[in-house]
Amino acid sequence: MIILGIETSCDDTGIAVIKADQRGLKRTCLPTKQESMRISILEQAPYGINFDILSNIVSSQVKVHAKYGGVVPNLAAREHLRNIEPCLKQAIKESKINLKKVDLIAVTTGPGLIPSLLIGVNFAKALAYKWQIPIIGVNHLEGHIAAIWLSPNHKTSKFRVPNPNFFPAISLLVSGGHTQLILINDFGKYKIIGETRDDAAGECFDKIAKLLNLGYPGGPAIATEAAKLKTKSQKLKVTLPRPMIEQKNYDFSFSGLKTAVLYLIRDNKEKIKDEKFVQNLCAEAQQAIIDVLIEKTMRAAKEYKAKTIILSGGVAANKELRKQLTKATKKLNSKPQLLIPHLKFCTDNAAMIAVAGYLRYKFKRPNNTNWRTINADANLRLKNW
Ligand code: KG4
Ligand code: ZN
Repeated sequence: MIILGIETSCDDTGIAVIKADQRGLKRTCLPTKQESMRISILEQAPYGINFDILSNIVSSQVKVHAKYGGVVPNLAAREHLRNIEPCLKQAIKESKINLKKVDLIAVTTGPGLIPSLLIGVNFAKALAYKWQIPIIGVNHLEGHIAAIWLSPNHKTSKFRVPNPNFFPAISLLVSGGHTQLILINDFGKYKIIGETRDDAAGECFDKIAKLLNLGYPGGPAIATEAAKLKTKSQKLKVTLPRPMIEQKNYDFSFSGLKTAVLYLIRDNKEKIKDEKFVQNLCAEAQQAIIDVLIEKTMRAAKEYKAKTIILSGGVAANKELRKQLTKATKKLNSKPQLLIPHLKFCTDNAAMIAVAGYLRYKFKRPNNTNWRTINADANLRLKNW
């Protein structure tokens, strides 16, 4: 099956062509409507599904938004409108498939910026109408989680539920718009056990970078500065709070951390000119975010006896977070598996949307796959299948 993925929830225009290959699957194992999804999916486990990424085009708008230090929604929509058709053409060209071969369109319907979402959703609806093929709306966050099934080595991208020991899974989803801890008890069965009460982790990176004039997006910029710090100097030592780390819930709060940095800059007008001080500050800000994320994830993994931990979202590209989460997971007595998308698939892309759309289409067998029934929803929550 060939799936066309479309992603425009924020400031990246993404179009991907994915081939889902079930050749190894026993036909009898495909779920019927009456069957429980859990049984049917687990039955397919030994066979798996190969995802072949035929093309994955991402047109970034970073240059447009950089001078504002963040995404300007109307400018983002204008750029999506300008880029979406050339991206489609390039994606089709690179995939070397005939347009007529596309079987399914998967498009992000939310959450995200409504002017941006509307461009992708309406474009996808028009294609579904013109080509007379099914279309499926995808939750952007489900897309981020589905990125764990993608491999840069196309031929080895595999959706494989190894065994019933996959669930429960705890997913730490950290992006520019979201910070959530999600308990996944079964396929498509989500429970948000905690989330940020104000800024998302990625937003905190972006805002701190803006205060330090490090540019946009802030996450990679802060990580780069932090990595320059070879030896920590006592004289330039900076200490920042770890908001809500002691609270026995799974919620987060990052806006106070940004304010703490604001005051630190205000009170250290001379020191802030020193690049070593900036590096210390970036390292400490990054560590403060990582400490809170890891502490809460480990606690959730213990409480819910997680057999799998999943890290996803744009902030999952942070090398320190990946490294430290790997170390913390290894220390857990229960030894859960840790799944992190390849670096290439952490930030927004349409390949992950195509995969999430395909899995939902295949295993949920939804009724609403007509272009008329698809709508954008800026505040879309993760819904159970
Ligand atoms: O998932 P994503 O591409 O878009 C949203 O869905 O929001 O995430 C973008 C966010 C931005 O806030 C960006 O600063 C952050 O991910 N990010 C990082 C890194 N790369 C991207 N944060 C920390 N370290 C990184 N290496
Ligand atoms: Zn995202």
